[in-house]
Amino acid sequence: MTKKPVIVSVVGARPQFVKLAPLAREISKSFRHIIIHTGQHYDFNMSDSFFSQLKIPAPDYNLGIGSGGHGSQTGRLLEKCEAALLSIKPDMVLVYGDTNSTLAAALAAAKLLIPIAHIEAGLRSFRRDMPEEVNRVLTDHLSSLLFYPTPTAKKNLRAEGIKKRLLLSGDLMYEILDQCLKRFEKKGPLLNRYQVEPEEFILVTLHRAENSDSLERLQKFKKILQATQLPLIFPAHPRTIKNLKKYKLLSEFKKIDNLQIIPPLPYLEMLNLMSQAKYVMTDSGGMQKEAFFLGRPCLTLRPETEWVETVTAGRNFLIDLSVSKLRRALKQPVRRRGTLKYKINNLQPSEIMRRAIANFLKP
Ligand code: UD1
Repeated sequence: MTKKPVIVSVVGARPQFVKLAPLAREISKSFRHIIIHTGQHYDFNMSDSFFSQLKIPAPDYNLGIGSGGHGSQTGRLLEKCEAALLSIKPDMVLVYGDTNSTLAAALAAAKLLIPIAHIEAGLRSFRRDMPEEVNRVLTDHLSSLLFYPTPTAKKNLRAEGIKKRLLLSGDLMYEILDQCLKRFEKKGPLLNRYQVEPEEFILVTLHRAENSDSLERLQKFKKILQATQLPLIFPAHPRTIKNLKKYKLLSEFKKIDNLQIIPPLPYLEMLNLMSQAKYVMTDSGGMQKEAFFLGRPCLTLRPETEWVETVTAGRNFLIDLSVSKLRRALKQPVRRRGTLKYKINNLQPSEIMRRAIANFLKP
């Protein structure tokens, strides 16, 4: 009997667990699938809750990297990923999105001459001051198979001279959301817990380094929250809380009457709230897409986005941290129809990826 090829997935942060969920199921049909969790996210609500809710197999390796500066975190990740890959000797490594875990895993694999497949290739903000932009550009250039989700992503890759082994794959985040639609009840007890009515609150998140690490940007964020009349539910990322404390802003945020600051929420609870919010206000890339898919308008707390299609469709407003842009956006009519195409030729993204990997590895 011939042995199945060995595929390694390296994940470490929330959005990667979400993408891994549908792919892990599909990949194990044809391959031996090994999961490496880098430990970049380690709190229960940032990690374990995703594995249990989304029924992701427990990681085979946990590198326990934890937090740190970008350089030292990436350096530790590189060293530990290399050691794990040397002992596993996989036929291919799958990396997801744009975190420090993504880049370190890709670099470790490239140096061991192991082919890499990059999921969510080709996204660009064209801002090199964002750690994610550096991670995605370098990862794309190291990869042998590039699964891109949108035509814009393909254009970006071609403009950088990457022309081979590009594959339109749809979007794994939509695939898993679709599978979970029935699991988060429309009118769950969550709204009671936060004492809000459907369509009468805004769900807020903010965690990007360029926002949460800057005193000036956090002060602007406070003004945005103060300028909003509706109840605000804010599941705050630990990084943001840490910085609000550091800049002595947390007590001022707590004084905002209509604002509830709560711990990060597990995936299904987040989708439940998102699906009933009047607006989603966020600097997260994944939430811009999820809001779009759920037919909720998004107020994006950044001047640009990698998901330009959500803006041209009239459902995502780039308000940055400007109160006047916020006011203008709140007056805009919201288009509820239309969705990003996420299945290609009626195939699920995970199936497209499994087939492409099988083709790539054919002797
Ligand atoms: C990372 C990704 C970002 C992604 C986000 C999803 C990079 C450069 N950034 O950002 O692209 O959108 O994940 O959430 O990789 N912390 C905890 N508990 C945890 C995890 C983090 O307390 O479980 C705190 C630590 O204080 C840490 C800080 O959050 O210093 C930042 O965590 P880190 O994983 O480095 O980056 P994120 O901001 O989460």
